[in-house]
Amino acid sequence: MKGNKNVLLALSLTLAVGFAGTTYLVADETKDQKGAAAQPAASTPNLLDYLGDTKVISVEPVRQMFSHRSHVVQHKLACSDCHTGIFERKWGAARDKGDYTHADAFDQGQYCGVCHNGEAAFATVGEDNCMRCHDSNMIAPDTIYFQKPVRTVVFEHKDHVDMGMKCADCHMQLFDTRMGAAEEQPEKFIMQALYDGKYCGACHNGEAAFASDTRCTTCHIGVRGDERRLAKAADKNKQKAQ
Ligand code: HEC
Ligand code: HEC
Ligand code: HEC
Ligand code: HEC
Ligand code: HEC
Ligand code: HEC
Repeated sequence: MKGNKNVLLALSLTLAVGFAGTTYLVADETKDQKGAAAQPAASTPNLLDYLGDTKVISVEPVRQMFSHRSHVVQHKLACSDCHTGIFERKWGAARDKGDYTHADAFDQGQYCGVCHNGEAAFATVGEDNCMRCHDSNMIAPDTIYFQKPVRTVVFEHKDHVDMGMKCADCHMQLFDTRMGAAEEQPEKFIMQALYDGKYCGACHNGEAAFASDTRCTTCHIGVRGDERRLAKAADKNKQKAQ
């Protein structure tokens, strides 16, 4: 895969100077063009066929939100508008730097925020804009009840945020911004992982917050606790209906 990417990178350079007849094009076209004299720069579409669907941003839950195709074709930006002053030509490079977040970067005019500042393009702040990149309104939940692998663990999302934690303290490294994502891998979302400092265990280690091998019932309300809260909620709904 890595070699492949380097080849494609080299390809984008060769294509940029209009050199065709390269053996690196998509398989069947390669055969067609081999040995042929240099062809006109009908090569850009090939490049965009590759780059247009690049999964620049993790697909889930922050959906595949960045499209090379729309930025280059529709919005008429040049490669150099982003490379390499803002972004490296390497998938995941920005995220690897550790400051690829709203608080540290986007909302301060870095990375996507260089243009997405409300002037050159719609801003990374403002409730109406979340949907345009995330395909979600990004409304933070109040309470989450995890049911897998065991029923039931309570997580007061709102309390944690109100205690002063930043969104990026948990998203994207520890948790996706999509309800149910951790539970899709119940074999991984286990106490041993917490003890190893993953998920809740990044903080619940006896230092930043009470340790995960203590106070079991603070997190685990269990089947009984879950039934009690469901009954309460049902009661409330009945009262509302009456
Ligand atoms: C609006 C900004 C923008 C423009 C314009 C742009 N890119 Fe990118 N490009 C990105 C981002 C963002 C990434 C991902 C970087 C990251 O994840 O750190 C990227 C990644 C890449 C990669 C790496 C892909 C991979 O799979 O690793 C290549 C190659 C690339 N761009 C080439 C180009 C070329 C060629 C052009 C002009 C046709 C172009 N880009 C125009 C923003 C842009
Ligand atoms: C111009 C695009 C854009 C807009 C608009 C945008 N975001 Fe983001 N957001 C991103 C990118 C890029 C990431 C980093 C994704 C990654 O790490 O793969 C991100 C990450 C996040 C995260 C994870 C951690 C963090 O804080 O960075 C949260 C939470 C988030 N966005 C909430 C929101 C909310 C709420 C809004 C609306 C007020 C919003 N976003 C609007 C691009 C955008
Ligand atoms: C060099 C400037 C520039 C950078 C950097 C940039 N964008 Fe954009 N983007 C634009 C412009 C210009 C538009 C179209 C204007 C508008 O809709 O306000 C746009 C439109 C969009 C759209 C609307 C749908 C579409 O594709 O046309 C999304 C989503 C988006 N950008 C996401 C991102 C994300 C995510 C990043 C960072 C990874 C990013 N952009 C970086 C300039 C930029
Ligand atoms: C202490 C950790 C923590 C902090 C801080 C935090 N979150 Fe979350 N968030 C979670 C967890 C855990 C989930 C559920 C993920 C899962 O089910 O895999 C979640 C889920 C979400 C979801 C998905 C909701 C849905 O309906 O799918 C959104 C949106 C979200 N958070 C936004 C935010 C925003 C915005 C902030 C900052 C204001 C923030 N979060 C801060 C832990 C946190
Ligand atoms: C970014 C750090 C961080 C993460 C991640 C985190 N917590 Fe916490 N949590 C805290 C802090 C700090 C407190 C308050 C201090 C204390 O009680 O030790 C707290 C308190 C709590 C409490 C008791 C108070 C309340 O609000 O109910 C529970 C229960 C809890 N956390 C559950 C969880 C669960 C479950 C997860 C994982 C889904 C989790 N936490 C992830 C930092 C975190
Ligand atoms: C900081 C919160 C927290 C504390 C404290 C905690 N757990 Fe958990 N536990 C979780 C989360 C989150 C999961 C995964 C979600 C689920 O199963 O609903 C989980 C899952 C489990 C599971 C099923 C997965 C596995 O590891 O086999 C068991 C059993 C379990 N916990 C036992 C305990 C016991 C016993 C204690 C006390 C010694 C404890 N937990 C303390 C949060 C906590």
